[in-house]
Amino acid sequence: MPRTLITSAIPYINGIKHLGNLIGSQLPADLYARYVRARGHEVMFICATDEHGTPAELAAKKAGKPVAEYCAEMWQVQKDLADGFRLSFDHFGRSSSPQNHRLTQHFAGRLDEAGLIEERSERQVYSKADGRFLPDRYIEGTCPNCGYERARGDQCENCTKQLDPTDLIAPRSAISGSTDLEVRETKHLYLLQSKLRDRLDAWIDGQEGWPVLTTSIAKKWLHDGDGLQDRGITRDLDWGIPVRKGDVPWPGMEGKVFYVWFDAPIEYIAGTAEWADATGGDWERWWRADKGAEDVRYVQFMGKDNVPFHTLSFPATILGSGEPWKTVDYLKSFNYLNYDGGQFSTSQGRGVFMDQALSILPADYWRWWLLSHVPESSDTEFTWARFQADVNKDLADVLGNFVSRVTKFCRSKFGEAVPEGGAWGEAERALVARLAEGLTRYEGHMDAIEIRKAAAELRGLWVAGNEYLQEAAPWSTFKTDPDLAAMQIRLGLNLIRFYAVLSAPFIPDAAQAMLRAMGDEGAGWPDDVDDALAALGPGHAFAVPEVLFAKITDAQREEWEARFAGTRA
Ligand code: MF3
Ligand code: ZN
Repeated sequence: MPRTLITSAIPYINGIKHLGNLIGSQLPADLYARYVRARGHEVMFICATDEHGTPAELAAKKAGKPVAEYCAEMWQVQKDLADGFRLSFDHFGRSSSPQNHRLTQHFAGRLDEAGLIEERSERQVYSKADGRFLPDRYIEGTCPNCGYERARGDQCENCTKQLDPTDLIAPRSAISGSTDLEVRETKHLYLLQSKLRDRLDAWIDGQEGWPVLTTSIAKKWLHDGDGLQDRGITRDLDWGIPVRKGDVPWPGMEGKVFYVWFDAPIEYIAGTAEWADATGGDWERWWRADKGAEDVRYVQFMGKDNVPFHTLSFPATILGSGEPWKTVDYLKSFNYLNYDGGQFSTSQGRGVFMDQALSILPADYWRWWLLSHVPESSDTEFTWARFQADVNKDLADVLGNFVSRVTKFCRSKFGEAVPEGGAWGEAERALVARLAEGLTRYEGHMDAIEIRKAAAELRGLWVAGNEYLQEAAPWSTFKTDPDLAAMQIRLGLNLIRFYAVLSAPFIPDAAQAMLRAMGDEGAGWPDDVDDALAALGPGHAFAVPEVLFAKITDAQREEWEARFAGTRA
């Protein structure tokens, strides 16, 4: 049985994610996980919350809660929303878990033994009023590049320039607003990534068939200008994973924690260990080549801004350890989804957030639209008008309408069991040939994780069934040749089952409702289209399902457009 390990970039803990975040990694990862499971792979699908770093501390402060308590609460909120969108993680972990503490400290110890860590003294901004250093987002000030007055210590949100806290003009503490700041010496650990450049270069060259978006970003970082810089992997913060060498203290590093981007990707491994501890499973056979993971295919999903961390920094940690850890085999990255003429923005509360989306429509509407418009080759834009038009056409007019016409017609003329009728004729054989070709193409796109192409092919299969039904017109043939109508409807009912199986990775709830109505919830992936379309034989009972997809009305669209036009408090 093929084995596939799948990870989605782990979302930051601070706040509910918007639909742009969702389609940028978790949702496509779920589509792929559901597909390979349906194809018989053994799958381990891991996600988690990314809980360390200044954004988490600042969000907790704003919420007036201790950071550990804030993170525990927000984990539950994010977990419930993931369930609401039917994200089928085998485990949804937390980067603050004891397993991640252990593994992060283990990697740091191994890197140190390999001579890849160096202690350096550096100058950091210290706030006397707050009695602490102000790394990353703990400091705000005017951007030296564009003059934006609320630039943060790590980056200017206005012009996106990466900054160092000491670059800011008129800096102030993000905690107290104090400007009584000074620059003090402090010691930090640096990962000597520059020493790993050739190994990383060779590792990237050894990857076959990676998307151009992925390799071009990696190569640019390896070779351009400042190339692969040594990287500070510790911070003067309270919240985080304490700096240790494996299980022994690290002299001189007391009171410091690892930098969030050092421990976050290690959580992919630790999350699997969390799963193992919770279920009695074995995580090493997914991650260690010496413990059975040689034949695992590892696929990662993420937004394009995350690519450098996954093609360089995380591999540097893993390769530098000198241990036989699994590295990524295929890395799927995405562009951005924009919202109605601008960007989705968490800090400005602009766009539609996961909780809001589920409060107005079931998950499948969103899954279908987002996945069929996933920003693969370029950025894409969500507008309410497009959403309404696409959902109404694809889900209500094409798929939903097919299911409803076939089942209702059958109930009224033949009752609630598959009718018998005669053998397939020419039209049926032509349809089956068309579906067999389409299925092969659909599988090819899904195997290659070409999501838009896969969605278009799936839609094409639904359309082919509708066209067949329109031409076969069992409601007319019934009047002159009820046997012919019975055969046509028998095929129609089998098509519903066939569509449900194929569509389940995109729209799992509707697919389940279709299979339940067809009385075959255990239906598996079709090996052969002829057989699959004869699976429900004469006499097999079925039920007419509830309306699968209601149309979005103009009044609803207008109301939502207005409701989500501004920013969220
Ligand atoms: N939290 C990061 C983001 O949302 C992603 C972290 S992915 C990991 O951009 F590799 F670090 F885990
Ligand atoms: Zn700027």
